[in-house]
Amino acid sequence: MQEKSLHTPYLTVPLTGAKIPAIGLGTFGSDHVEPREIADAVKVAIRMGYRHIDCASVYGNEKQVGQAIASLIAEQVVRREDLWITGKLWNDKHDPKDARESFLRSLEDLQLEYLDLYLIHWPFPNYHPPKCSVDSRSPNAIPYDHDRYMATWRVLESLVDEGLVRHIGSSNMTVPKLGLLLRDCRIKPACNELELHPHFQQPELVRYCKEHGIVPIGYSPLGSPGRPERDRTTDDTVDMEDPVIVGIAQKHQVHPAAICLKWAAKNGHVPIPFSTKEKNLRANLEAVCSDPLTEDEKLAIDGIDRGCRLIKGHVFLWEGANDWHDLWDEDGTITR
Ligand SMILES: NC(=O)c1ccc[n+]([C@@H]2O[C@H](COP(=O)([O-])OP(=O)(O)OC[C@H]3O[C@@H](n4cnc5c(N)ncnc54)[C@H](OP(=O)(O)O)[C@@H]3O)[C@@H](O)[C@H]2O)c1
Repeated sequence: MQEKSLHTPYLTVPLTGAKIPAIGLGTFGSDHVEPREIADAVKVAIRMGYRHIDCASVYGNEKQVGQAIASLIAEQVVRREDLWITGKLWNDKHDPKDARESFLRSLEDLQLEYLDLYLIHWPFPNYHPPKCSVDSRSPNAIPYDHDRYMATWRVLESLVDEGLVRHIGSSNMTVPKLGLLLRDCRIKPACNELELHPHFQQPELVRYCKEHGIVPIGYSPLGSPGRPERDRTTDDTVDMEDPVIVGIAQKHQVHPAAICLKWAAKNGHVPIPFSTKEKNLRANLEAVCSDPLTEDEKLAIDGIDRGCRLIKGHVFLWEGANDWHDLWDEDGTITR
């Protein structure tokens, strides 16, 4: 017997009043999950009730994901207007002429007439070859250049003007960089995608987003247990093994993954967990649909932040930079 589909909850996007599904499906295969398998997961997820899919050109699977979405729309499993599809511009396509072309390619690959959200994936126009080691440095890599970022942002604004994109946003930003963007933009970022999980809560950045009406979309919400080797260091901690998370999971009789997602939902983030397993896809959707955390449980998890950034971004560093901390403006000023 086919299991019944669930109804995803929604949050309101302050900028437009649009409804964003409060959980999305990630589609980054961490360099080891094949596009076909991810496209199959997209199909299973949408049939189950997911309505939000987090895509990016650099994930190398938009064609297959697009076919999956198109087949479900053709079969009338879902209507286009009930889906929220996010795309992202990769770092080697920031140049305005490349940015527009890259967006149009994504739109074609995804077989869509518009995207719900288009993000600048990283604020650096710094390219690195796929699967390169963390020590590799591109000779052309540069620190944050606000004029160049804004030139790319203007392209995103023009896509909104043309009706090709409903919302635009940022990713991997910091408070000072977002401040400059808000100062100089014509169309505000509706969403900011950032690493967010119980051991990496970025409270100041999340507060800043909310104060400015920007929806925080949380990536790696489970602590990214399948992340590529290049993104692992011996200091990394494991959210799903934290005794506070495990204890609350036992009380709710769910996997610790569900507690990470309930915590995200309770804090007003939109988590975008990745999975290719039907059982995990369902558990993750159910986690935000029912049995929320109590206020005390939320506060207990708020208290276990370890400041443990997992996606450090080494490969985007420029020659002469000290280390990955330079990407994240930790003293409140932009590192140049
Ligand atoms: N904007 C950015 O720069 C950026 C950066 C990183 C990621 N992202 C986005 O965020 C998405 C999610 O991040 P992520 O993939 O790094 O990490 P994640 O969602 O925290 O973790 C995914 C891993 O958790 C496992 N998992 C999922 N549900 C589970 C459950 N219920 N129980 C136990 N294990 C479970 C998955 O394995 P199974 O497949 O076996 O379930 C997979 O290995 C990405 O796919 C991507 O779309 C964006």
